Amino acid sequence: MKRLTGIGLGPGDPEMITLKALRSLQCADVVFYPASYSNSGEVQSYSLKILEQLDFETECRPLVIPMMGKNRDEIYREAYHAIKESLDEGKEVAVVNEGDVLFYSTFGYLFKMAKADGVECSVISGIPAFIAAGGLGDRPITEGSSGFNLIARPQSFEQISDLLHARVNDTLVVMKMKVLEEWYGYLTQCSRPFLYVEKAGTPYEFVTSNVEDLRDREIPYFSVIVFYEGERV
Ligand SMILES: C[S@@+](CC[C@H](N)C(=O)[O-])C[C@H]1O[C@@H](n2cnc3c(N)ncnc32)[C@H](O)[C@@H]1O
Repeated sequence: MKRLTGIGLGPGDPEMITLKALRSLQCADVVFYPASYSNSGEVQSYSLKILEQLDFETECRPLVIPMMGKNRDEIYREAYHAIKESLDEGKEVAVVNEGDVLFYSTFGYLFKMAKADGVECSVISGIPAFIAAGGLGDRPITEGSSGFNLIARPQSFEQISDLLHARVNDTLVVMKMKVLEEWYGYLTQCSRPFLYVEKAGTPYEFVTSNVEDLRDREIPYFSVIVFYEGERV
């Protein structure tokens, strides 16, 4: 049995993966990428779009992880089974993820299963989306003695406000922000300076710190918001 390598692809720009990640993709026997079904039932994958722009020839196979429906444990067991079959054939297997590979990632679940199964694993980190997004702003993400907090899939705007009020000197990043509606309404009454970024590193990248730009905007899944310390002017 060979090794399983988790590879972070970075946020979307093919030039934002590490040299180590690219070399590892070139050397693998098979590369698995996470995919899901679109509303019209087609297989779609953000990771595949990045892979398609990279210089390597290794066979790529989807791991279809539906957003809804079947039991999550069962879905991951099936995905792991496909990986395990390749490992048992003596293949060098890579599993990729956008951003970093152990940060809110599909690979995280598979990594735990592989470890529990005694598989030798290694990890090649990638640039997480919130770091790439923060790099599009006009100030440091955080600095000096300021702190840093992150919420993924916020439960309510109240949860966000509570954290902003409790940690006035900290930066707060909110990921998976699409789960909440009415961001425009919230941001009009929130006084913190913010940076909203969608699809960082892709041709569809959109960046703004202006609330009015979000008035009628549909927030996509690949979006993140950074709240900085201070007051908005
Ligand atoms: C399942 S998490 C994956 C995080 C990823 N592993 C990382 O390290 O950034 C998906 C969330 O990450 C954020 N995200 C990932 N890629 C993004 C991008 N290119 N632009 C903006 N947000 C992104 C969004 O908040 C999205 O809902």
